[in-house]
Amino acid sequence: MYLELVRIGKTFLDEKQGTKTCAIAQIDLQIEKGRFISFVGPSGCGKSTLLRIISGLENSFEGEVFLDGKKILEPHSEVGLVFQQYALFPWRTMCENIEMGLEIMGMGKAERRAVAKEYIRLFGMEGFERLYPCQLSGGMQQRVAIARTLVMNPKVVLMDEPFGSLDSQTRNDMQEFLMDLRQKRNDTVLFVTHNVDEAVFLSDQIVVLSKRPARILRIFEINCSKPRDRTSKEANDIRREVIGILRRERTDTSPVVS
Ligand SMILES: Nc1ncnc2c1ncn2[C@@H]1O[C@H](COP(=O)(O)OP(=O)(O)O)[C@@H](O)[C@H]1O
Ligand SMILES: [Mg+2]
Repeated sequence: MYLELVRIGKTFLDEKQGTKTCAIAQIDLQIEKGRFISFVGPSGCGKSTLLRIISGLENSFEGEVFLDGKKILEPHSEVGLVFQQYALFPWRTMCENIEMGLEIMGMGKAERRAVAKEYIRLFGMEGFERLYPCQLSGGMQQRVAIARTLVMNPKVVLMDEPFGSLDSQTRNDMQEFLMDLRQKRNDTVLFVTHNVDEAVFLSDQIVVLSKRPARILRIFEINCSKPRDRTSKEANDIRREVIGILRRERTDTSPVVS
């Protein structure tokens, strides 16, 4: 299996306050190469924590993460990250932002510029390459952040609510853009969103998580054709079921076993 999460658990300890927060109960999941997996779940259930564990950013947790047969122990370039905050460097142009990782890797200037230009073309951003982040729209900035990650050819791309700060029209455009990109490249993507429509539109699989501590409630396989019709019967049925599970999860008052 390409990406394997084995009995993942996480409890945050606050030694000063003497409190414990169990964020993830136990998660086992196997993900095939080239798939787009969305995670949805109540706010604060542990989604970002799960992505941080997979990225190697959390140094204490239970269980193991294997990527392409290797155990992930620390952050490395085979795992790419895209967050809601674009975190672009304001003093670098679009092109220089996209080149950043390649530069750190030691790639020569001409070569990395050529690679960046290829991505600028693929992402439909030609003509903007010399502009600074503050001169770009929110959607364009997020595209730069995605290009900057993909340029490194990571084995898996982790996206944590990447479109959360965009207005709804730009968000729709970005979903279409990402879907279009999926037809051209076959990245393995783990995508966190609280937007069920977005998950249904983009994913091969939706993993529905419980309230904290997160565990998997249900996994939906989505086999609708791509590009997708947001209003198809299959999309609507899945959307209704996912929303129903999340609603029950919010109103369920039974004690949480942690
Ligand atoms: N560094 C931390 N220290 C203590 N508690 C944390 C830390 N990070 C997250 N948590 C807690 O873990 C739970 C899950 O957080 P998070 O993974 O950010 O949720 P989500 O992304 O699903 O909204 C929350 O209750 C949060 O307060
Ligand atoms: Mg989060």
